[in-house]
Amino acid sequence: MRNRKRSYNFISVILVFLMVSIWFYFDQEQQTKSIQIGVSLYLENDTFVEKILSAMEQEALNYEEETGVNVILNVSVANGSQRTQNEQVKRYVEMGYDAICVNLVDRTNAAAIVDLGVFEGEDVPIVFFNREPVAEDIMRRDMVYYVGSDAKQSAVLQGQAVVECYQNYPKLMDKNGDGVLQYVMLEGEMGHQDAIMRSDYSLQTIVNMGVPLHKLASETADWNRKRASDLMEQWIESYGDDIELVLCNNDDMALGALDILSKTSIKAAVFGIDATDVGIQALDEGALWATVDCNSKEQGQAVLRIAADLAMKGSLSDKLELTQQRYVRVPLIKKISTSLG
Ligand code: GAL
Repeated sequence: MRNRKRSYNFISVILVFLMVSIWFYFDQEQQTKSIQIGVSLYLENDTFVEKILSAMEQEALNYEEETGVNVILNVSVANGSQRTQNEQVKRYVEMGYDAICVNLVDRTNAAAIVDLGVFEGEDVPIVFFNREPVAEDIMRRDMVYYVGSDAKQSAVLQGQAVVECYQNYPKLMDKNGDGVLQYVMLEGEMGHQDAIMRSDYSLQTIVNMGVPLHKLASETADWNRKRASDLMEQWIESYGDDIELVLCNNDDMALGALDILSKTSIKAAVFGIDATDVGIQALDEGALWATVDCNSKEQGQAVLRIAADLAMKGSLSDKLELTQQRYVRVPLIKKISTSLG
Protein backbone atom coordinates (compact mmCIF):
# COMPACT_ATOMS: atom_id res chain seq x y z
CA MET A 1 0.00 0.00 0.00
CA ARG A 2 2.79 2.38 1.00
CA ASN A 3 4.73 1.45 -2.10
CA ARG A 4 1.76 2.22 -4.31
CA LYS A 5 1.33 5.65 -2.74
CA ARG A 6 4.99 6.36 -3.26
CA SER A 7 4.83 5.46 -6.95
CA TYR A 8 1.73 7.71 -7.36
CA ASN A 9 3.71 10.56 -5.84
CA PHE A 10 6.60 9.81 -8.15
CA ILE A 11 4.35 9.83 -11.25
CA SER A 12 2.75 13.12 -10.13
CA VAL A 13 6.17 14.72 -9.76
CA ILE A 14 7.15 13.52 -13.25
CA LEU A 15 3.88 14.82 -14.71
CA VAL A 16 4.27 18.26 -13.13
CA PHE A 17 7.86 18.36 -14.36
CA LEU A 18 6.76 17.46 -17.89
CA MET A 19 4.01 20.09 -17.88
CA VAL A 20 6.40 22.79 -16.67
CA SER A 21 8.95 21.79 -19.35
CA ILE A 22 6.32 21.88 -22.10
CA TRP A 23 5.05 25.26 -20.90
CA PHE A 24 8.63 26.58 -20.75
CA TYR A 25 9.39 25.23 -24.23
CA PHE A 26 6.31 26.87 -25.82
CA ASP A 27 6.94 30.09 -23.94
CA GLN A 28 10.48 30.21 -25.36
CA GLU A 29 9.11 29.41 -28.82
CA GLN A 30 6.59 32.24 -28.51
CA GLN A 31 9.34 34.63 -27.47
CA THR A 32 11.59 33.89 -30.44
CA LYS A 33 8.63 34.05 -32.79
CA SER A 34 8.18 37.76 -32.37
CA ILE A 35 10.55 40.56 -33.38
CA GLN A 36 10.32 44.27 -32.74
CA ILE A 37 11.49 46.74 -35.37
CA GLY A 38 11.76 50.46 -34.64
CA VAL A 39 11.27 52.94 -37.48
CA SER A 40 12.22 56.61 -37.38
CA LEU A 41 11.00 58.93 -40.16
CA TYR A 42 12.60 62.33 -40.86
CA LEU A 43 9.24 64.12 -41.18
CA GLU A 44 5.52 63.51 -41.08
CA ASN A 45 3.37 63.72 -44.21
CA ASP A 46 6.01 63.13 -46.86
CA THR A 47 3.90 61.45 -49.55
CA PHE A 48 6.67 59.26 -50.97
CA VAL A 49 8.13 58.19 -47.62
CA GLU A 50 4.63 57.28 -46.45
CA LYS A 51 4.31 55.02 -49.47
CA ILE A 52 7.53 53.25 -48.50
CA LEU A 53 6.21 52.85 -44.96
CA SER A 54 2.94 51.29 -46.19
CA ALA A 55 4.96 48.81 -48.24
CA MET A 56 6.98 47.96 -45.11
CA GLU A 57 3.80 47.38 -43.12
CA GLN A 58 2.44 45.11 -45.83
CA GLU A 59 5.72 43.21 -46.02
CA ALA A 60 5.69 42.69 -42.25
CA LEU A 61 2.37 40.86 -42.70
CA ASN A 62 3.77 38.83 -45.61
CA TYR A 63 6.83 37.91 -43.54
CA GLU A 64 4.62 36.75 -40.71
CA GLU A 65 2.52 34.63 -43.05
CA GLU A 66 5.60 33.03 -44.63
CA THR A 67 7.68 32.40 -41.53
CA GLY A 68 5.27 32.46 -38.60
CA VAL A 69 7.38 35.24 -37.06
CA ASN A 70 5.29 38.08 -35.69
CA VAL A 71 6.85 41.41 -36.79
CA ILE A 72 5.96 44.37 -34.59
CA LEU A 73 6.70 47.78 -36.17
CA ASN A 74 6.91 50.83 -33.96
CA VAL A 75 7.05 54.08 -35.97
CA SER A 76 8.21 57.46 -34.66
CA VAL A 77 8.66 60.78 -36.45
CA ALA A 78 11.68 63.05 -35.89
CA ASN A 79 9.99 66.25 -37.12
CA GLY A 80 13.11 67.35 -38.98
CA SER A 81 15.36 67.21 -35.89
CA GLN A 82 18.47 65.04 -35.97
CA ARG A 83 18.70 65.28 -32.19
CA THR A 84 15.18 63.91 -31.76
CA GLN A 85 15.95 61.12 -34.21
CA ASN A 86 19.12 60.14 -32.31
CA GLU A 87 17.07 59.98 -29.10
CA GLN A 88 14.46 57.80 -30.78
CA VAL A 89 17.12 55.38 -31.99
CA LYS A 90 18.76 55.32 -28.55
CA ARG A 91 15.42 54.48 -26.94
CA TYR A 92 14.76 51.63 -29.40
CA VAL A 93 18.20 50.20 -28.68
CA GLU A 94 17.79 50.46 -24.90
CA MET A 95 14.37 48.81 -25.11
CA GLY A 96 15.97 45.81 -26.83
CA TYR A 97 14.51 46.28 -30.31
CA ASP A 98 15.78 43.67 -32.77
CA ALA A 99 16.41 46.05 -35.70
CA ILE A 100 16.00 49.74 -36.51
CA CYS A 101 15.05 51.38 -39.82
CA VAL A 102 16.08 54.99 -40.22
CA ASN A 103 14.92 57.61 -42.70
CA LEU A 104 17.70 60.05 -41.75
CA VAL A 105 17.05 63.70 -41.06
CA ASP A 106 20.57 64.86 -41.92
CA ARG A 107 22.25 62.54 -44.38
CA THR A 108 25.71 63.84 -43.52
CA ASN A 109 25.21 62.89 -39.92
CA ALA A 110 24.64 59.15 -39.62
CA ALA A 111 27.75 58.19 -37.61
CA ALA A 112 26.10 58.89 -34.25
CA ILE A 113 23.16 56.63 -35.09
CA VAL A 114 25.43 53.87 -36.35
CA ASP A 115 27.37 54.00 -33.08
CA LEU A 116 24.24 54.21 -30.92
CA GLY A 117 23.22 50.86 -32.41
CA VAL A 118 25.92 48.97 -30.56
CA PHE A 119 24.42 47.68 -27.32
CA GLU A 120 26.37 45.70 -24.72
CA GLY A 121 28.91 44.77 -27.39
CA GLU A 122 26.25 43.56 -29.86
CA ASP A 123 25.56 45.18 -33.27
CA VAL A 124 21.87 46.03 -33.58
CA PRO A 125 20.96 45.92 -37.31
CA ILE A 126 20.27 49.35 -38.84
CA VAL A 127 18.68 49.84 -42.25
CA PHE A 128 18.80 53.38 -43.60
CA PHE A 129 16.39 54.17 -46.39
CA ASN A 130 15.46 56.93 -48.84
CA ARG A 131 17.92 59.48 -47.42
CA GLU A 132 21.36 58.12 -48.17
CA PRO A 133 24.12 58.47 -45.58
CA VAL A 134 27.69 59.00 -46.72
CA ALA A 135 29.45 55.70 -47.49
CA GLU A 136 31.96 55.95 -44.60
CA ASP A 137 29.09 55.96 -42.10
CA ILE A 138 27.48 52.87 -43.64
CA MET A 139 30.81 51.06 -43.54
CA ARG A 140 31.55 52.04 -39.93
CA ARG A 141 30.49 48.65 -38.64
CA ASP A 142 28.67 45.40 -39.55
CA MET A 143 24.87 45.12 -39.84
CA VAL A 144 24.34 48.53 -41.48
CA TYR A 145 22.56 48.76 -44.85
CA TYR A 146 20.94 51.28 -47.21
CA VAL A 147 17.89 50.90 -49.43
CA GLY A 148 16.98 53.53 -52.01
CA SER A 149 16.84 54.37 -55.67
CA ASP A 150 19.63 55.51 -57.95
CA ALA A 151 19.28 59.29 -57.88
CA LYS A 152 21.16 59.77 -61.15
CA GLN A 153 19.06 57.18 -62.95
CA SER A 154 15.80 58.86 -61.89
CA ALA A 155 17.13 62.13 -63.33
CA VAL A 156 18.26 60.58 -66.60
CA LEU A 157 14.84 58.94 -67.02
CA GLN A 158 13.12 62.27 -66.40
CA GLY A 159 15.35 63.93 -68.99
CA GLN A 160 14.61 61.17 -71.50
CA ALA A 161 10.87 61.56 -70.88
CA VAL A 162 11.12 65.30 -71.64
CA VAL A 163 12.95 64.63 -74.92
CA GLU A 164 10.49 61.89 -75.93
CA CYS A 165 7.54 64.22 -75.29
CA TYR A 166 9.28 67.02 -77.21
CA GLN A 167 9.79 64.72 -80.19
CA ASN A 168 6.13 63.66 -80.09
CA TYR A 169 4.57 67.06 -79.34
CA PRO A 170 7.05 69.78 -80.45
CA LYS A 171 4.37 72.44 -80.98
CA LEU A 172 2.62 71.78 -77.69
CA MET A 173 5.87 72.10 -75.75
CA ASP A 174 7.77 74.79 -77.67
CA LYS A 175 4.89 77.27 -77.61
CA ASN A 176 6.81 80.20 -79.13
CA GLY A 177 8.46 77.96 -81.74
CA ASP A 178 12.00 79.26 -81.09
CA GLY A 179 13.50 75.75 -80.92
CA VAL A 180 14.46 76.25 -77.28
CA LEU A 181 12.51 75.15 -74.18
CA GLN A 182 12.13 77.90 -71.59
CA TYR A 183 12.02 76.17 -68.22
CA VAL A 184 11.57 76.66 -64.50
CA MET A 185 12.81 74.08 -62.00
CA LEU A 186 11.37 73.13 -58.61
CA GLU A 187 14.14 71.53 -56.58
CA GLY A 188 13.96 69.24 -53.53
CA GLU A 189 15.58 69.86 -50.18
CA MET A 190 19.07 71.36 -50.33
CA GLY A 191 21.86 68.81 -49.73
CA HIS A 192 19.57 65.81 -50.39
CA GLN A 193 21.28 63.38 -52.77
CA ASP A 194 18.14 63.08 -54.92
CA ALA A 195 17.70 66.86 -55.23
CA ILE A 196 21.32 67.45 -56.22
CA MET A 197 21.50 64.64 -58.79
CA ARG A 198 18.02 65.13 -60.22
CA SER A 199 18.56 68.84 -60.81
CA ASP A 200 21.90 68.30 -62.56
CA TYR A 201 21.35 65.16 -64.60
CA SER A 202 17.86 65.89 -65.78
CA LEU A 203 19.10 69.10 -67.46
CA GLN A 204 22.28 67.45 -68.76
CA THR A 205 20.31 64.59 -70.32
CA ILE A 206 17.93 66.91 -72.15
CA VAL A 207 20.72 69.07 -73.54
CA ASN A 208 22.92 66.08 -74.43
CA MET A 209 20.02 64.57 -76.34
CA GLY A 210 19.89 67.71 -78.48
CA VAL A 211 17.08 69.81 -77.00
CA PRO A 212 18.29 73.35 -76.12
CA LEU A 213 17.09 74.80 -72.81
CA HIS A 214 16.84 78.28 -71.40
CA LYS A 215 16.47 78.73 -67.65
CA LEU A 216 13.91 81.26 -66.40
CA ALA A 217 14.08 80.38 -62.71
CA SER A 218 14.90 77.61 -60.26
CA GLU A 219 14.46 77.35 -56.50
CA THR A 220 14.11 74.78 -53.74
CA ALA A 221 10.60 73.96 -52.55
CA ASP A 222 11.71 71.21 -50.11
CA TRP A 223 9.68 68.45 -51.81
CA ASN A 224 6.59 70.30 -50.65
CA ARG A 225 3.40 70.84 -52.66
CA LYS A 226 2.35 74.11 -51.01
CA ARG A 227 5.81 75.69 -51.24
CA ALA A 228 5.98 74.65 -54.88
CA SER A 229 2.64 76.24 -55.68
CA ASP A 230 3.72 79.49 -53.95
CA LEU A 231 6.90 79.63 -56.06
CA MET A 232 5.02 78.78 -59.24
CA GLU A 233 2.60 81.60 -58.54
CA GLN A 234 5.51 84.07 -58.36
CA TRP A 235 7.04 82.70 -61.56
CA ILE A 236 3.75 82.94 -63.41
CA GLU A 237 3.58 86.60 -62.36
CA SER A 238 7.12 87.19 -63.66
CA TYR A 239 7.21 85.04 -66.80
CA GLY A 240 3.57 84.22 -67.62
CA ASP A 241 3.11 82.27 -70.81
CA ASP A 242 6.88 82.21 -71.51
CA ILE A 243 7.11 79.18 -69.21
CA GLU A 244 7.12 76.11 -71.42
CA LEU A 245 8.58 73.42 -69.20
CA VAL A 246 8.30 72.83 -65.43
CA LEU A 247 10.91 70.35 -64.23
CA CYS A 248 10.26 69.07 -60.72
CA ASN A 249 12.46 66.92 -58.50
CA ASN A 250 9.36 65.07 -57.22
CA ASP A 251 5.64 64.58 -57.91
CA ASP A 252 4.37 66.57 -54.92
CA MET A 253 6.10 69.71 -56.21
CA ALA A 254 4.81 68.99 -59.74
CA LEU A 255 1.30 68.84 -58.28
CA GLY A 256 1.92 72.14 -56.49
CA ALA A 257 2.82 73.72 -59.84
CA LEU A 258 -0.29 72.20 -61.41
CA ASP A 259 -2.47 73.54 -58.57
CA ILE A 260 -1.61 77.08 -59.75
CA LEU A 261 -1.40 76.42 -63.49
CA SER A 262 -4.90 74.95 -63.42
CA LYS A 263 -6.22 78.30 -62.18
CA THR A 264 -4.76 80.11 -65.22
CA SER A 265 -5.02 79.69 -68.97
CA ILE A 266 -1.25 79.04 -69.20
CA LYS A 267 -0.26 75.66 -70.60
CA ALA A 268 3.14 74.28 -69.64
CA ALA A 269 4.53 70.75 -69.67
CA VAL A 270 5.04 69.56 -66.08
CA PHE A 271 7.37 66.64 -65.21
CA GLY A 272 7.75 64.90 -61.82
CA ILE A 273 9.50 61.94 -60.20
CA ASP A 274 8.21 59.32 -57.65
CA ALA A 275 4.94 57.91 -59.05
CA THR A 276 2.96 58.59 -55.88
CA ASP A 277 -0.76 57.76 -56.04
CA VAL A 278 -1.70 61.42 -56.57
CA GLY A 279 1.06 61.72 -59.16
CA ILE A 280 -0.23 58.74 -61.12
CA GLN A 281 -3.76 60.14 -60.98
CA ALA A 282 -2.54 63.44 -62.49
CA LEU A 283 -0.61 61.44 -65.12
CA ASP A 284 -3.75 59.48 -66.05
CA GLU A 285 -5.65 62.75 -66.39
CA GLY A 286 -2.94 64.16 -68.69
CA ALA A 287 -2.15 67.03 -66.28
CA LEU A 288 1.27 65.62 -65.36
CA TRP A 289 3.23 64.84 -68.54
CA ALA A 290 5.52 62.22 -67.08
CA THR A 291 6.96 60.81 -63.88
CA VAL A 292 9.53 58.20 -62.89
CA ASP A 293 8.33 55.28 -60.81
CA CYS A 294 10.83 55.07 -57.94
CA ASN A 295 9.36 51.79 -56.82
CA SER A 296 8.33 52.60 -53.26
CA LYS A 297 6.91 49.09 -53.00
CA GLU A 298 10.20 47.29 -53.59
CA GLN A 299 11.99 49.81 -51.40
CA GLY A 300 9.66 49.09 -48.47
CA GLN A 301 9.86 45.34 -49.06
CA ALA A 302 13.67 45.38 -49.07
CA VAL A 303 13.90 47.52 -45.92
CA LEU A 304 11.62 45.18 -43.99
CA ARG A 305 13.26 41.98 -45.30
CA ILE A 306 16.77 43.15 -44.39
CA ALA A 307 15.69 44.25 -40.91
CA ALA A 308 13.71 41.07 -40.20
CA ASP A 309 16.31 38.66 -41.63
CA LEU A 310 19.15 40.28 -39.70
CA ALA A 311 17.04 40.25 -36.54
CA MET A 312 16.09 36.59 -36.94
CA LYS A 313 19.20 35.00 -38.47
CA GLY A 314 21.95 37.60 -38.39
CA SER A 315 22.34 37.21 -42.16
CA LEU A 316 20.45 38.11 -45.35
CA SER A 317 18.53 35.88 -47.72
CA ASP A 318 20.23 35.13 -51.06
CA LYS A 319 17.24 36.61 -52.89
CA LEU A 320 18.32 40.16 -52.03
CA GLU A 321 20.49 41.76 -54.69
CA LEU A 322 23.12 43.90 -53.02
CA THR A 323 25.55 46.30 -54.62
CA GLN A 324 28.80 47.22 -52.84
CA GLN A 325 27.78 44.67 -50.18
CA ARG A 326 25.50 47.04 -48.26
CA TYR A 327 23.21 48.73 -50.79
CA VAL A 328 19.90 47.78 -52.38
CA ARG A 329 18.94 49.99 -55.35
CA VAL A 330 15.51 49.29 -56.75
CA PRO A 331 14.79 49.38 -60.51
CA LEU A 332 13.08 52.53 -61.83
CA ILE A 333 10.62 53.00 -64.70
CA LYS A 334 9.81 56.11 -66.75
CA LYS A 335 6.07 56.73 -67.15
CA ILE A 336 4.70 59.09 -69.79
CA SER A 337 1.06 60.14 -69.84
CA THR A 338 -1.05 58.54 -72.54
CA SER A 339 -3.56 61.41 -72.35
CA LEU A 340 -1.41 64.19 -73.89
CA GLY A 341 -2.05 66.09 -77.10
C1 GAL B 1 12.86 61.57 -52.45
C2 GAL B 1 11.44 61.69 -52.98
C3 GAL B 1 10.79 62.90 -52.41
C4 GAL B 1 10.88 62.91 -50.91
C5 GAL B 1 12.31 62.70 -50.45
C6 GAL B 1 12.40 62.61 -48.95
O1 GAL B 1 13.43 60.39 -52.92
O2 GAL B 1 11.50 61.79 -54.38
O3 GAL B 1 9.44 62.96 -52.81
O4 GAL B 1 10.09 61.87 -50.42
O5 GAL B 1 12.84 61.54 -51.06
O6 GAL B 1 13.64 62.22 -48.53
